[in-house]
Amino acid sequence: MAENPVILILNGPNLNMLGQREPEIYGSQTLADIEAACIDQGKKLGLAVDFRQSNLEGELVTWVQENSNQVAGLIINSAAYTHTSVAILDSLLNFSPPVIEVHLSNIFKRETFRHHSYISGAADGVICGLGAKGYLLALDALADMID
Ligand code: DQA
Repeated sequence: MAENPVILILNGPNLNMLGQREPEIYGSQTLADIEAACIDQGKKLGLAVDFRQSNLEGELVTWVQENSNQVAGLIINSAAYTHTSVAILDSLLNFSPPVIEVHLSNIFKRETFRHHSYISGAADGVICGLGAKGYLLALDALADMID
């Protein structure tokens, strides 16, 4: 039997602090809770999930580069790098599979500096403001896109 397609899920800086980080904005779930929910959803959809977090911009760039020909899709919450990183944008512009950008919070309801995303310029879809459910909806969308 063929192996399940792999979806890479990348998380940027400070998302390792979920659960204790501004819970009124980001909710009470930890990143490990979100990972478990994504793995579960992946199983329902016939997808394998490779879930990672880094506080380092270059590490995120390297993971994008390394996986362009390895995975069926990418979900990325690049956190604060969303608003600053031309380097991550450039890596995504050279990434072939479909990309969904996710944010837990509604970045458009927050400070003006969060309204611009470099990542959106390379994303096939963007989900924000729906909390951890956004990751699961992104998995649903990718399952349809790669079907
Ligand atoms: C975030 C929104 C960003 O503005 C912020 O820097 C984050 C998390 C979100 O998931 O809502 O760290 O990407």
